[in-house]
Amino acid sequence: MEGKLKQLISDAESGIGLAIDSKELDKLKIEYIGKNGRLTALLKGLKDIPAQKRPVFGKLVNDARIKIEQFFSIKENQIKQREKQIRIQSETVDITLPGKKNKLGTMHPINIIKEQILDIFSGFGFKACDGPEIETDYYNFQALNIPVGHPARDMQDTFYITENILLRAHTSPTQVHVMEQEKPPIRILSYGKVYRSDDDATHSPMFHQIEGLAIDKKITLCDLKGLLDAFAKQMFSTKTKTRFRPSYFPFTEPSVEVDVSCAMCGGSGCRLCKGTGWIEILGAGMVNHRVLENCNIDTSRYSGFAFGLGIERITLIKYGIPDIRLLFENDTRFLKQFNKW
Ligand code: PHE
Repeated sequence: MEGKLKQLISDAESGIGLAIDSKELDKLKIEYIGKNGRLTALLKGLKDIPAQKRPVFGKLVNDARIKIEQFFSIKENQIKQREKQIRIQSETVDITLPGKKNKLGTMHPINIIKEQILDIFSGFGFKACDGPEIETDYYNFQALNIPVGHPARDMQDTFYITENILLRAHTSPTQVHVMEQEKPPIRILSYGKVYRSDDDATHSPMFHQIEGLAIDKKITLCDLKGLLDAFAKQMFSTKTKTRFRPSYFPFTEPSVEVDVSCAMCGGSGCRLCKGTGWIEILGAGMVNHRVLENCNIDTSRYSGFAFGLGIERITLIKYGIPDIRLLFENDTRFLKQFNKW
């Protein structure tokens, strides 16, 4: 019996000594001192021993248990220490590594130009107004003197939700809303997204417009010319010249298209202005009396002018960007070039 106990102790010592992690150690615990382990098996043999020898043998078994438990606790400590060290090593932070930089976003070039334009016109007393992008046929067309079936609707071919509800093709409907709600004098800029079924290098199905409207006593085409010339000089350069060409819009009469002298060549002709020296930037005119009447404005007392420009177009010209699609792809390598700050 004693021999068996000695054997058990030495087996346990060498087995525990070889264990490399807590999992293995747990297994050994079950094998040696578990309920059905080897020590318990020896204890069960106690009944076969003569009664007077039992206390001595019982003590030996107990001593063996204490010894084996000591082996376990020593090994457990060693393994815990090792595992802790391994964990610490794997969690080490290299404080000499360079920090991660958080990239800051930049203002989109369309927004930069939009802010500039709103800013210039606010200096002339124009108040910026927002309006709905989903409009009725009346506000997008009819109120602006474009009746149902009129061929001029082709100029603003948009996307229809129902026969009567559509995505606005220009920001002029906002001007109608304002004229219905406010009394002259009116000086507003309507701005925002507009939609047309167009898609190529210089047209996008969604783009941004800013339109101006001024209604007051004795407003003339000269006021419009003076304002737009002053705007062009602030927007591009003090040397910029403007040119007004007769045109047609159903909502203005007379109507004009406005060109600016090419910012790149100064008017001598280049790739940007296609050799003409001039670049068209907007449409404008005196508000058609029918539009004013539709909004209950007394045309015997008031007149007005309106103009409309595409923000993308001004952005392409101002920065010499060759393709409108670059403005919508959101490639940060492109966008970060316009960082104002
Ligand atoms: N609403 C016109 C368009 O989008 C632009 C414009 C506005 C032209 C005001 C003349 C006067 O095409």
